[in-house]
Amino acid sequence: MDIEGEKSVLPTEEVYHPDMNLYKRAYDDSFKNMEAFWSFNAEILTWYKKWDRVLDDTKKPFYRWFVGGKLNMSYNCVDRHIEQHRRNKAAYIWVGEKGDEKIVTYDGLFRRINNLAKALINLGIKKGDRIVLYMPMIIEAPVAMLAAARIGAVFSFVFAGFGAGALAERINDSKAVLLITADGSFRNGKVVELKKIADEALEMTSTIRNVIVVKHAGNNVDMNEDRDIWYHEVVGDSYTYVEPVQMDANDPLFILYTSGTTGKPKGAVHSTGGYGVWVANTLKWAFNPDEDDRWWCAADIGWITGHSYIVFAPLILGLTSIMYEGSITYPEPDRVWEIIEKYRINILYTSPTAIRMLMKFGDKYPKRHDLSTLKVLGTVGEPINPSAWRWYYETIGNSKCPIIDTYWQTETGGFMIAPQRALGLPPLKPGSATFPLPGVDPAILNDRGEEVKDNEKGYIVFRRPWPGMLMTVNNDDERYVKTYFSKFYGYYFCGDYAIKDSDGYYWLLGRADEVLNVAGHRLGTIEVEDALVSTGLAVEAAAFGKPDPIKGEVIVAFIVPKQIQADRRELISEIRKRIRSDLGPIYVPDEIHIVKLLPKTRSGKIMRRVVKAVALDQIPGDLTTLEDSSSVDEIRSAIEAFR
Ligand code: WTA
Repeated sequence: MDIEGEKSVLPTEEVYHPDMNLYKRAYDDSFKNMEAFWSFNAEILTWYKKWDRVLDDTKKPFYRWFVGGKLNMSYNCVDRHIEQHRRNKAAYIWVGEKGDEKIVTYDGLFRRINNLAKALINLGIKKGDRIVLYMPMIIEAPVAMLAAARIGAVFSFVFAGFGAGALAERINDSKAVLLITADGSFRNGKVVELKKIADEALEMTSTIRNVIVVKHAGNNVDMNEDRDIWYHEVVGDSYTYVEPVQMDANDPLFILYTSGTTGKPKGAVHSTGGYGVWVANTLKWAFNPDEDDRWWCAADIGWITGHSYIVFAPLILGLTSIMYEGSITYPEPDRVWEIIEKYRINILYTSPTAIRMLMKFGDKYPKRHDLSTLKVLGTVGEPINPSAWRWYYETIGNSKCPIIDTYWQTETGGFMIAPQRALGLPPLKPGSATFPLPGVDPAILNDRGEEVKDNEKGYIVFRRPWPGMLMTVNNDDERYVKTYFSKFYGYYFCGDYAIKDSDGYYWLLGRADEVLNVAGHRLGTIEVEDALVSTGLAVEAAAFGKPDPIKGEVIVAFIVPKQIQADRRELISEIRKRIRSDLGPIYVPDEIHIVKLLPKTRSGKIMRRVVKAVALDQIPGDLTTLEDSSSVDEIRSAIEAFR
């Protein structure tokens, strides 16, 4: 492992809180006085009825938090702010790729949510119904999430970069009755035709009764008269009020699909109460934003980072967020810095891939802009290499902004390990996410389930439940137990490798399983392989992640083609095209190699481990179970031909 930056950055008075006692006290308290600790911190939300019990752990690992509590997330994100002093405060400063802007106040958000909630009711949507959102980074996206929450419908957001196959799969698994999408979105100066992709997906599904379409990019779309309606036509523009439905703390708020090691993506089901308490407190502890700060979480709303930290946490806290649609390097590589300067942004939260990409363009782009309003910087999604950390800290933060490296997952709801500005920042070590948040009890185990020594690599687990954890996998309690609680019985298994150093700092080292992390996006190896085979052009496929200096990892695939054809390039480009339209552009392999056969065990299982090792010039390990050793030479010569 690479701890090149183990030497800590020296704390300066303004940036670091030299006293970590506050943190230590809160951390200890969260276990010793668990009930009191969470009862106090749950007051960050407004409840119609307080809980009877903080934690019900009688049906482990189906933990239930704030049992008996009643609340509504839409009420917590907007109503209570307009009832107090934030009616005219900006909830969102939306910036389009062309530089157009739209400022939506809390009152404006409230009106939009109520109008859409009314439209949903008119379309027959009831509490517990599932709604799929396939939307770009537009204001209507948080509005749709909160309108669903207002009436008790469960939404499932599908990242607008996914293709028709991925969208259809999620609609089918969630049995959604309504889809909300847009005509198109802007990306690198081009229009992505979302409605067209949605139409393709709908041919593979049968549960959707209506489609609501936001007119955004202005591209032509086919409207199916019996099914499709324009957003602006159903929603109207006058003032309406819809009473928020009083939800149980353990009624689901949303389902978000995420990739794993086996089979299709899993729908992580998040609760209303526990999730809300977790995201709001974690944002406060880690970043400690002030009332007047401008917060920019530069993730896409379709991933968990966008759900928790563009929508729920900042709105619960009543903050002002920047929301940006489009590419961070369009039209010029200084887009991010230009936005920070123009809107006087105080906190930027982005991914290591974005940082590495922006760093590659050189210092001249950030140097063109006044970034002096920045006071805190954050990262998420993958391990950050110390050199990118340093560039972010020195060049972007002018050596005065702490880097809040947040380790967490779709399933955890919010941050799990991160420096905590509100509780006393420790001296930071570039590349380490530092310490667990209150309520988080990590351990690092070896294959036998024993705790490893300091500085030894192992699997990171969480030994106790926390309020933001997923409740289950949609329609599949068994898979929930098997995926997360059976590798180390009773402990939540994250699927990542980590090290704890002798100062107690945690270093997250990436996936311990066959999940890919491409540019901070979590993708399943099996999904890529299935998609390759379902193009009909390959009979077998093996895919894996290859280290990449910018994206962390890129996908490399080996396929056995259905027919040997003369023009390999044509075949590869056709495969690429089909994967793009089925799963989406992020799933398209960087390299596709054609071989006559793949290494297999005698029982016919493809040995992905061997393919990867040979292709990356590593030692392939045990080859005794290999059926035909010429397959290894095939991989070698394909790679040589490629070089
Ligand atoms: C990885 C994203 C190192 C990790 C919020 C995890 C990280 C997966 C970090 C979850 C970090 C996330 N340092 N690795 N700060 N943050 N990861 O579900 O492998 O899209 O398991 O959630 O991203 O990805 P997901």
